[in-house]
Amino acid sequence: MSSNANKPVGVFDSGLGGLTVAHAIKQLLPSESLVYFGDTAHLPYGDKSEGAIINYSRRITSYLLDHGAKMVLIACNSASASAYSTLKKEYGEKLLLLDVIEPVIDHIAAKNYSRVGVIGTKRTITSGSYEAGFKKKAPDTEVVSMPTPLLVPMIEEGFIFDDISNAIIRTYLSDKKLSGIESLVLGCTHYPLIRNQISKFYNFDIEVVDSARIVALHLRDKLMENGLLNEEKQTSADRFFVSDYTPYFEKIAKMFFEGKDISFSIADIWSD
Ligand code: DGL
Repeated sequence: MSSNANKPVGVFDSGLGGLTVAHAIKQLLPSESLVYFGDTAHLPYGDKSEGAIINYSRRITSYLLDHGAKMVLIACNSASASAYSTLKKEYGEKLLLLDVIEPVIDHIAAKNYSRVGVIGTKRTITSGSYEAGFKKKAPDTEVVSMPTPLLVPMIEEGFIFDDISNAIIRTYLSDKKLSGIESLVLGCTHYPLIRNQISKFYNFDIEVVDSARIVALHLRDKLMENGLLNEEKQTSADRFFVSDYTPYFEKIAKMFFEGKDISFSIADIWSD
């Protein structure tokens, strides 16, 4: 075990979506501590350009490292699609950097589906990252992808399990493009919060894949491979930073990490 193993795992997203992955990490690896950044000042990333997301991701990665992170997980599909390869090149071997798209593609590739749907933000879908990944790892699987841009603002505003969210989800998923799929990939880390409603739309008949647990398992393997898995008791409290205060972020963070020792602060990293 490396001397860095008891340092926190760095995780970031544009907002609260990455909390779905952070929560799965804590469930699987309770000894790990987290330092989380939600870039709520720039949310949604899905509407931003690739260049802007690279800049945000670069700055946040360095912030997480300054706050002691032993590695960084990009817990956002839009940032994984836009910034992962650039940051990977920039940091090289110096940093264990993980994304959320690759582990999901590996998971689906093993299932031999003939037709798979992917929903995500405009940025993620237009990047073609899922198509490219499937082409490489599951060339016989037909992929149909569709942007669902209203879902992130809807979730960030707390519209889940109600008539508004039902109407929006129904409208998107009824699109002919998605007909006949055997599995639907939730290509956005916000979507696990509405996973039940989505599964219900399909009468629980198809596999609805969310990245949270898949990514947590992948992260555990990578920590082990790199001697970074913390085998001792959690030493520091989980820390959550946001670039702008949103009440719903705090509510969801408290819901996910209820009873845990967490600290929540606003970090204005864009004005210095
Ligand atoms: N959770 C982010 C993702 O996985 C949300 C993107 C957004 O802010 O639009 O893509």
